[in-house]
Amino acid sequence: MLKLTNLAKYFGGVRAVDGLDMQINKGEIFGLIGPNGSGKSTTVNLICGVFPQTAGTIELDNVDLGRLAPHQRIEFGVSRTFQNIRLFGDLTVWQNLWVAWRDAPGHETSWLVNWFGSPADRRHEIQKLLEFSGLGDRADRPASSLSFGEQRRLELARAMASKPKLILLDEPAAGMNSEEVADLRNRILTMKNLGMTVLLVEHVMDLVMSVTDRITVLNFGKPIAEGTPLEIQNNEMVQEAYFGSAKNVEAGN
Ligand SMILES: Nc1ncnc2c1ncn2[C@@H]1O[C@H](COP(=O)(O)OP(=O)(O)OP(=O)(O)O)[C@@H](O)[C@H]1O
Ligand SMILES: [Mg+2]
Repeated sequence: MLKLTNLAKYFGGVRAVDGLDMQINKGEIFGLIGPNGSGKSTTVNLICGVFPQTAGTIELDNVDLGRLAPHQRIEFGVSRTFQNIRLFGDLTVWQNLWVAWRDAPGHETSWLVNWFGSPADRRHEIQKLLEFSGLGDRADRPASSLSFGEQRRLELARAMASKPKLILLDEPAAGMNSEEVADLRNRILTMKNLGMTVLLVEHVMDLVMSVTDRITVLNFGKPIAEGTPLEIQNNEMVQEAYFGSAKNVEAGN
């Protein structure tokens, strides 16, 4: 479904991403991990079109995303959350979802129909998203009044409201306590059961290891390993580059 080929992004002399090949299949929860500054967020930004790649290609369902503007990529089915929460603080929870919602007639192949039903009904679907995120009783509150954990849940629901084919989660567990992480784990597993395709960038290792199907490990912008969670945990190069540093394992930043 998503295919990155020899993807690279240089910022001046900094090779943030440097020759990344990666393929995500439909319905997979795919992990992208690596030490701080290894190029994970840059990869997410390249897929969304925040900036153009220096080299390589990004294809989604055999379409070259590199030729599409950021808003066209959203229309085509790419959605994301941010490492630092970005919501419309003055709008209510409902309004945040309302503006993010879109009809996606071309996408009615998988989780959309299973979950939302058809034909698309905006109110009904937003109600479903509120239930999914446990924010049903918060619908009329301004987003800025929500707790940190609730804002993270709203961000996730908002990313789903555009009915993406592919959803990119950049450190959704950052700053969460263990209870909130457990809750997020259940939500991601629900997304998997719905048949969604997810790229999960995350430092919280037990979350990554318990929800992903496959993982790519980045180090200095280069992929150093790819495999199942078990394979990655047992990979010596990964342990050296990543698990060797206690900060990255524990910090969640
Ligand atoms: N807009 C930018 N301009 C210049 N350099 C950048 C920019 N964005 C990222 N970089 C640099 O590219 C490298 C990769 O950064 P990136 O944010 O992708 O890392 P990351 O893997 O997401 O790290 P973290 O785990 O800390 O979030 C870093 O050296 C960073 O300083
Ligand atoms: Mg990052």
